[in-house]
Amino acid sequence: MSSRPVQMRPEISTLEESQIVEVWRMGFDYPDTIGMWVGQGDLPTPRFICDATTRALAEGQTFYTHKRGIPELRQALADYHRDLYGVEIADSRIAVTSAGMNAMILIMQTLLSAGDNIVCITPVWPNIFAVAQIMGGHAKHVPLTGTDQGWVLDLDRLFDACDARTKAIYIASPGNPTGWIMPEDQRRATMDFARRRGIPIIADEVYHRLVYNAAVAPSFLEIAAPDDPLFIVNSFSKTWAMTGWRVGWMIMPLGLTDQIDRLIEFNTSGGQSFLQTGCVAAIRQGEDWVRWMVDRCRQGRDLVMERLGTMNRVSVVPADASYYLMLRVEEMGDATEFCKRLVREAGVGLAPGTAFGAGGEGYLRLCYAQGNDRLNQAMDRLQSVLRRG
Ligand SMILES: Cc1ncc(COP(=O)(O)O)c(C=O)c1O
Repeated sequence: MSSRPVQMRPEISTLEESQIVEVWRMGFDYPDTIGMWVGQGDLPTPRFICDATTRALAEGQTFYTHKRGIPELRQALADYHRDLYGVEIADSRIAVTSAGMNAMILIMQTLLSAGDNIVCITPVWPNIFAVAQIMGGHAKHVPLTGTDQGWVLDLDRLFDACDARTKAIYIASPGNPTGWIMPEDQRRATMDFARRRGIPIIADEVYHRLVYNAAVAPSFLEIAAPDDPLFIVNSFSKTWAMTGWRVGWMIMPLGLTDQIDRLIEFNTSGGQSFLQTGCVAAIRQGEDWVRWMVDRCRQGRDLVMERLGTMNRVSVVPADASYYLMLRVEEMGDATEFCKRLVREAGVGLAPGTAFGAGGEGYLRLCYAQGNDRLNQAMDRLQSVLRRG
């Protein structure tokens, strides 16, 4: 007897594959491709972090642990925020999560019911749209405008997009794929708006250290009170080259600790203590490495900007943060098809801007967190295709 098909919730059966993955998967058939499509650098996690982790594993840190993370890591994170921004974050506001992605899910499970919406400044990391859909809600897009000076937000459009069903404003600053940093006056005005309207801000600060004109990007934590409607999403993925570890953290407003603790119990039941011990090493001993890595990315950004600047048909929106650039190629046609052509004909992997929501149309995203030789080679290949027309 044949079985009847499993009835999925429509929110799940209609989840679409990211266009980034669609192009990235092609790379398996073209192994020589220089991939600049996904959001990570080419460096493995630094040795001192791995060593601290393997020691913890060998010592038997293999049991269930605190839902909000081991106390040593929460303390290290509190110290980190104090040193970085001069703010005191109470331990009760910190929760270690399975990277930024899981922090997003926990926050959205806390805030969003079916029929609600989240207002997102786009183009942006598209997973946030899918999380809203999984919750039975949807994401409203407020596009930035790309100019030859950088990306610009019309704040009135952001506020106008918020309605009675808006349960959060999602702001990634520095942004992926734009590298946009929300200016100080806009941050303050948005925080005031959030307080007045009771709409929480989700400030995604996973690229907080990847800035090229300062030691750290400005944070919403610097302008918010502990009980303000503000959630911070952060991660070990980008700053310490730990994308595969799946460890991050969130900072919540005062008063939510017990509920978030429970929510973690029913999602992951907490993280892996040996990995978290490695994360303590990242925070406590990682500053020299972070400085070196950011400087390497700065060199990559400068190299790519210079090379793209000499190519016909190409224009780039400049950015001082994250490790991405958004570029336009005149007459390229459909962005996803063009990206596939770049893989086939040149062995260069870029991501279509359309994957990142409104405002990304007509752009390609390039991740430059790689060594200079590879970047130069990728630029040579790109140039050869553009010459061909
Ligand atoms: C803006 C932004 N937020 C969050 C994440 C999630 O990163 P992870 O889940 O690896 O911490 C990413 C990943 O690319 C991102 O670009």
